[in-house]
Amino acid sequence: MTTAICAGRVAVVTGAGRGLGRAHALAFAAEGAKIVVNDLGVGLDGTGRASGPAQQVVDEIRALGGEAVAHDGDITTTEGAASLVSVAVDTFGRLDTLVNNAGFLRDRMLVNLDEDDWDAVMRVHLKGHFLPLKHAAAHWRAETKAGRTPEARVINTSSGAGLLGSVGQGNYAAAKAGIVGLTLVASAEMARYGVQVNAIAPAARTRMTEQTFADSMAAPEGGVFDAMAPENVSPLVVWLGSSASAGVTGRVFEAEAGRITVMEGWRPGPTADKGARWTPAEAGGAALRLLAAAGAPGPVYGAR
Ligand SMILES: NC(=O)c1ccc[n+]([C@@H]2O[C@H](COP(=O)([O-])OP(=O)(O)OC[C@H]3O[C@@H](n4cnc5c(N)ncnc54)[C@H](O)[C@@H]3O)[C@@H](O)[C@H]2O)c1
Repeated sequence: MTTAICAGRVAVVTGAGRGLGRAHALAFAAEGAKIVVNDLGVGLDGTGRASGPAQQVVDEIRALGGEAVAHDGDITTTEGAASLVSVAVDTFGRLDTLVNNAGFLRDRMLVNLDEDDWDAVMRVHLKGHFLPLKHAAAHWRAETKAGRTPEARVINTSSGAGLLGSVGQGNYAAAKAGIVGLTLVASAEMARYGVQVNAIAPAARTRMTEQTFADSMAAPEGGVFDAMAPENVSPLVVWLGSSASAGVTGRVFEAEAGRITVMEGWRPGPTADKGARWTPAEAGGAALRLLAAAGAPGPVYGAR
């Protein structure tokens, strides 16, 4: 028998009452971790609130012999984010892994996008990553100062929309691109406290995607590999959240079906240096020559 790779660890998963977060929570528990299952139980557009989804996943984990506790706080508030950490420490005595996953969509073309829909999506994804990260980081810094340098892990959730852009998702793409920037900074700042920070861009069948992408997300019949099941994304998340991933930080992975891809991000391409200030016309000529030598960017999702 192999040893569970998260034995003895405690993981917090935000938005774990449904979809990908639920799959991550169950997968961490199956590898021996104790879980704080956070979910505010909101509707598809982020409105409403229910404690049912978090408690249901806790019940599922316990029925399988695991240990879990529900947290139905809002991770976009200081109170909700701080209590995530205190529930982990008070219930299980420690915190090792934070999976930032909670979120929702308010899709519109930019020209029709209301300020409220911009704010709500930026808040749940960007602030909803920052606040739990900040409170977990403060805990791990205190642990380090007390001489107990942790093997802590944070997994953030970006999206292909943030990496390449996605028509009709200007708010969401901006937030998910911001999460990549946050991941890079957190990885650099928090290494000294024994914390590794990576991001995933998943794709799976959840309530977020099952209508918009009904055909590509549909479950096959008859024992064929269910490529778009959210459970297919979780193994990488569990490994990143374990001590086995030592040395891996500041990276972005796409995870979908049976495929894992390291995303290679912005890096300098063709460059020119005049050694003095360009005129606008000269700068334009140089830009066109450089673009001719550069690779084409990936297509924006949904662009024709
Ligand atoms: N499904 C995909 O293909 C896909 C693709 C790219 C990125 N993602 C990202 O993966 C993450 C999970 O999405 P999903 O597809 O599982 O969606 P989902 O709607 O099934 O699950 C998201 C959960 O987050 C919870 N939540 C929302 N706001 C919250 C808050 N303030 N505090 C606590 N919980 C809150 C919801 O109640 C819900 O249960 C999201 O960040 C999403 O943007 C999903």
